[in-house]
Amino acid sequence: MSYEVTIEPTGDVIEVEEGQTILDAALRQGVWLPFACGHGTCGTCKVQVTDGFADVGEASPFALMDVEREEGKVLACCCMPESDLVIEADIDVDPDFAGYPVQDYSGTVTEILPLSPTIRGLRIRLDRNMEFQAGQYINLHVPGVAGSRAFSLANPPSSSQEIELHVRKVEGGKATTWLHEALKVGDRLELSGPYGQFFVRKSDEQGAIFIAGGSGLSSPQSMILDMLAEGDGRPIYLFQGARNLAELYNRELFEQLAVEHDNFHYVPALNAPLPEDDWQGFSGFVHEAVADYFEERCAGNKAYLCGPPPMIDAAITTLMHSRLFERDIHMERFVTAA
Ligand code: FES
Repeated sequence: MSYEVTIEPTGDVIEVEEGQTILDAALRQGVWLPFACGHGTCGTCKVQVTDGFADVGEASPFALMDVEREEGKVLACCCMPESDLVIEADIDVDPDFAGYPVQDYSGTVTEILPLSPTIRGLRIRLDRNMEFQAGQYINLHVPGVAGSRAFSLANPPSSSQEIELHVRKVEGGKATTWLHEALKVGDRLELSGPYGQFFVRKSDEQGAIFIAGGSGLSSPQSMILDMLAEGDGRPIYLFQGARNLAELYNRELFEQLAVEHDNFHYVPALNAPLPEDDWQGFSGFVHEAVADYFEERCAGNKAYLCGPPPMIDAAITTLMHSRLFERDIHMERFVTAA
């Protein structure tokens, strides 16, 4: 059994299976609705039901207050229709968003890359191509672990059948420990995707500043490989932050790209280099490397940030001091998958 949900003001109509959430159905049918956490705690996906009946599901009382429930508001990521519905959503779709539908995929692990002491790269050959935009992420199901874990795609869309993920091992994290210690080449994995609103705004001509910390390098890697392969001639900068040289992974790849492409500039930064690193590059946090490089004048560029929340917050402050506006800054706050 399924219900028809009409989304205003766009007039899109989606089919929602019994027991399926509105958000899951919309994303799988290529219809975009705003969302962030995906499990009822942030309130980003709040919509107004104007006709019909629905079960609000597991919405947190903080994300959806009693008074809002009485007004007919629901969270699209938890809400399951109990009749045909009409909902009103605050939809502001970016013109550069391709809106590829979310689908389920299976794949076989073809390669495991020891990128750094704490980060492992996984290459997974999917049974069929996944269409996605560089910068988006997938949700991976880890055997024996409830729920799924989000990982950004590190490969460009041109190699969409063999995907690459960067997995940082989190102490005590069941999923990432399994991916680091038990996963083998040849194992099968299930995942769904693509998700996310982190992608390059290609329709404008502004330069692109990528700022990455830790395994947050994965999305910028995909985006940069995609832009350079397409012959995008705008200035492209990658600032990559790590603690020490061993954690600064894929450095040779980006150094080589900087040699091959005049418009690509690579600045690695170490905030705690070891004596044996004999580090001659920038010492300090990655946002300090950005301020130093641009001498606090970043206007004319768009910035794309991906990394842990403290890195993102520090980078935003630096960029705004350097004359970028909020509309010029896009980010993926990397809440580490445990
Ligand atoms: Fe966070 Fe629905 S996306 S509450």
